[in-house]
Amino acid sequence: MADAVIAHLRSILGDEHVLVDDDLRAGHETDWTGRYSGTALAVVRPGSTGEVAAVLRHCNGQRIAVVTQGGNTGLVGGGVPRPDGGAALVLSTRRLDDLGPIDAAAQQVTVGAGVTLARWREHARRSGLDTPIDFAARDSATVGGAIATNAGGSRVVRFGTMRRQVVGVEVVLADGAVVGSTSGLPKETAGLHWPSVITGSEGTMGVVTHARLRLVPLFAATATAMVTTASVDDAVSLLARLRAEVTSLDSAEVLLPAAVDLVADHLGATPPVPPAACTVLVDCAAHHDPTDELVAVLSEAPEAVDTAVTTESGPRTRLLQFRDRVTEAIGAAASRLGVPVFKLDVAVPLAALGRLLEIAESAAAADGASLVPFGHLAEGNLHLNHLGATDPTRIADEVLTAVADLGGTISAEHGIGVAKVPWLGLIRSAEDLAAQRSIARALDPEGILNPGVMRQVP
Ligand code: MLT
Ligand code: ZN
Repeated sequence: MADAVIAHLRSILGDEHVLVDDDLRAGHETDWTGRYSGTALAVVRPGSTGEVAAVLRHCNGQRIAVVTQGGNTGLVGGGVPRPDGGAALVLSTRRLDDLGPIDAAAQQVTVGAGVTLARWREHARRSGLDTPIDFAARDSATVGGAIATNAGGSRVVRFGTMRRQVVGVEVVLADGAVVGSTSGLPKETAGLHWPSVITGSEGTMGVVTHARLRLVPLFAATATAMVTTASVDDAVSLLARLRAEVTSLDSAEVLLPAAVDLVADHLGATPPVPPAACTVLVDCAAHHDPTDELVAVLSEAPEAVDTAVTTESGPRTRLLQFRDRVTEAIGAAASRLGVPVFKLDVAVPLAALGRLLEIAESAAAADGASLVPFGHLAEGNLHLNHLGATDPTRIADEVLTAVADLGGTISAEHGIGVAKVPWLGLIRSAEDLAAQRSIARALDPEGILNPGVMRQVP
């Protein structure tokens, strides 16, 4: 059967866009962490919505699983084949990379799902606008992947997550039907809102081919501060002050000492402020220099132990790289150890952030793993990276149970993928999960779309 399927896919896409050789498939079969991988029947690279529809129609008829993949920067095993999942096709969206004209009046643009976040941003900036979503994997991560996971990143405090940016979407369903709209009308009450259905569905409801996305003003002036505090709770108090008084607040990120040390070593750089219990990176952006409003708050804030502020581009990049390059530093450390990093991506109400960290530290210590915590302060979102973990399942049991007890979530922005499926019941009732399964079955009755992601294979 496999040969006939490949031959049919080649007749749709042409030989060069159906990759079957081991070395051509390899980069699509293992995720960024190296923890999740499987073998694909082939990697297909459709170049249009029509081609995506034809591929899905065929796979649906043959009951072949389809794993949709953008830049393959996922961290939870949701964008690569399952090791035990049988024959699966990887559908790469990278050739869906068209950039539509900028609508400056509506502050919107339509782009292909395979456009990277960096290209989306460059395109917007050429027209004097900007993108509301940004994170370190911007050069590889795609718009489609960011929609699939409801990605967040550093600007959520100001603009919200990807869900808020998707004003229209074109989606191909499992049977090849094309649904949705990219009109982007801000007011429309005409039935189901496809962006809401699809965003965060991790490739289980349909394949996004195009998206109509919100744009935001491009601010000419920026000011960045690295501030240390004596505790996580103090960082949360400082955040309250910044949110109340700094109108230009664009991001508030947090690094714990292990993360600062690791990234400093990796960069061969010394942080501009002495080490402390908690480091906060604050970015402000406005049409006029926001330095005064930022400094006014920081100089009066009792929580700020040491502060370095800059507005110039070079020093600013040097400050921001302590946050921007921490994932890269963790990847390098994991390679040296020869053990893939084990990542948790949790969020709790801000008042519980300090407690969460204590629990995570104790779970890591009991395992013998080194914990490297950092994340997005304003959303109470910590990325708990474990280097050299011996029993990741035990760590996850302990930390995720505590997260649920604290009123938090087991996935803030990376998604459930395959990695977090066993713990979904901690934050969703059986009825809730059953209803989600029914909705997915209605759109994908044969269950070909990313089986094993967000739910167990039935
Ligand atoms: C980040 O905030 O840098 C990303 O979520 C990536 C990561 O957690 O490693
Ligand atoms: Zn993050």
